Amino acid sequence: MSILDLQAMKRSGEKIASLTAYDASFAAMLDQAGIDLILVGDSLGMVVQGKESTVPVTIDEMIYHSQCVTRARDKAFVVVDLPFMSYSTPKIAAENAAKLMQQGLAQMVKLEGAKLDIVTFLVAQSIPVCAHLGLLPQSINQLGGYRVQGREKNSADKILADAISLEQAGASLLILECIPATLAKKITNQLQIPVIGIGAGVDCDGQILVIYDMLDIGVNRRPRFSKNYLKEAADISEAISQYITEVKQQQFPTPDHSY
Ligand code: KIV
Repeated sequence: MSILDLQAMKRSGEKIASLTAYDASFAAMLDQAGIDLILVGDSLGMVVQGKESTVPVTIDEMIYHSQCVTRARDKAFVVVDLPFMSYSTPKIAAENAAKLMQQGLAQMVKLEGAKLDIVTFLVAQSIPVCAHLGLLPQSINQLGGYRVQGREKNSADKILADAISLEQAGASLLILECIPATLAKKITNQLQIPVIGIGAGVDCDGQILVIYDMLDIGVNRRPRFSKNYLKEAADISEAISQYITEVKQQQFPTPDHSY
């Protein structure tokens, strides 16, 4: 899979099925099931390391988990998170993104927020960028809690304006986390780049979940927007295949998993 394939999927209306993975075994299982995109998310700080938030995750940990994943996947597109404070200036961002790409073999890096100067600089160095708007887990200490974003008109307008600016700055993909489905639909329709939702309704170009949440094996409570796919599956592979089918057929997320 390349970014061209993901763009073609947006144009053709085929939904992009994505999940997180942090190790070789899950990466191989996802790849064999036909997942389109794997995110090595800094959510590993919470679901793998058992930490309170993603804030303590380091660039070396992201490189290590990225290596575990890219070693085992064959076809899926791999995006890797730049962790907290690893993109505080364009120079620092470029150095850390280069590590994720050269050592971790990431095909794209993801960063949170409307960091337009950083995105512009990375793209100018031929580093593809996935932006992330809505609920920003790395800003949890500022936000005070994991809550739906963009419910009021002002904040919804800001998320839409930021999404357009990020596309203009050169972002190739956008993840929208925990925002009202109507807002996510509006953003998805306005942008040319693929938009992948998590708790953002069924009208995005694709869906992503944290794999531990969709198997309901996390140390934390499963978020409302996730679904336990292991409940009705014989094994993990069947749960992953069912998730992919439901995303492709737009059976997930239902209104129960949306805001
Ligand atoms: O770190 C992560 O897993 C993420 C997803 C929640 C999109 O950023």
